[in-house]
Amino acid sequence: MKEFLEWASPGSEEWQTARSLDPTRLPRHIAVIMDGNGRWAKKRFLPRVAGHRAGVKPVREIIEACCRLDIETLTLYAFSVENWKRPHSEIETLWKLLRQYLRAELPELKANGVRFQTIGRIEALPQEVRDDIDNAIVETAANTGMRLNVALNYSGRSELVDVVNDLLRRAGKHGAPQRINERELGDLLYTADSGDPDLLIRTSGEFRISNFLLWQIAYCEIWVTDRYWPDFRTVDLLEALLDYQSRDRRYGGLSNRSSSTTKEAAKDEVVVVND
Ligand code: FPP
Repeated sequence: MKEFLEWASPGSEEWQTARSLDPTRLPRHIAVIMDGNGRWAKKRFLPRVAGHRAGVKPVREIIEACCRLDIETLTLYAFSVENWKRPHSEIETLWKLLRQYLRAELPELKANGVRFQTIGRIEALPQEVRDDIDNAIVETAANTGMRLNVALNYSGRSELVDVVNDLLRRAGKHGAPQRINERELGDLLYTADSGDPDLLIRTSGEFRISNFLLWQIAYCEIWVTDRYWPDFRTVDLLEALLDYQSRDRRYGGLSNRSSSTTKEAAKDEVVVVND
C-alpha cells in the first residue's frame, strides 16, 4: 500500500481512494472475470477483436496496481473451456494478444517480482502459445512477489473433473484412498498454491459465475461493475477494494463486528447472524 501511495499522483482520484483503504484489510487473493470486450467494441461499431485488443491495457494496469498494493495473488479469467465455441479468427486473435502481451511485458513482470502461472487445461493450447507461456513461467519462477494466475482453457467443472481423474489415476497406482477431506481436495486443484480468492470482480454488469473457480469461491466476496473490461481502470479496482472492506465476512459463523445488532443480542448472551 505504501508503494501504491508513493507511485500514484498525490491528489489524484486513485491516491484519494487508496488513502481511504485500510492497508491491513486488503484481500490476499483477487480474481477477475474480465467481461464485456465484445460489447465495448459493438458500442463503437468495431469488430469484437478490437474489444480484446483494448482489453490488454486494463490487464497491464490492474497487474501493476495489484503489485503496488501488495496483493498476494491475482487470478484473471482470460479464456474459458466454453470459449472454443467462438469463431476461429477470434480465438486466434486472443492467442496472438496473449503471446504479444507475454513477450512485451515479461521484463516488466520480472521487474515487479511477479510469478506468472496459468490455470486450466494448457495442454490443449497451440504449441507456440504454450512455448511463450512456459518461457514466462520459467523466467519468473524465482520471483517472490505477486502470483499472477492467468486462467486459460479453464472451467471450474473441468478442474473438478481433473481432480477426480487425478485421484482415480493415483488409486490405480497405489490403491484407492478410503476418503479425502476438503483440504486434500484443495491441494489437488490448479490453485493449490494460491489459496481461495477473497474478492471476485466481474465487469460488464453480469451477475454470473460463468464456471470460474467454483470450489474456490465458496466464501468469496463478489463485486460487479457495469463497466466493460476495456474501460476498467485502477480507480475501479480501488472502489471494489473499498466495498470489500465494508463487507462483514462471517464464513457462516458469527459477526466479529460490534454492530448495534450484535451488541443488543449480546445482552441475551447468544447471537446468531444469518450467513
Ligand atoms: C470476455 O469478453 C473476454 C474474453 C473472453 C477475453 C479476455 C481477453 C483479454 C482481456 C485480452 C488479453 C488478455 C491477456 C491476459 C493478455 P467477451 O468477448 O465475452 O465480451 P462480450 O460478453 O461483451 O461479448
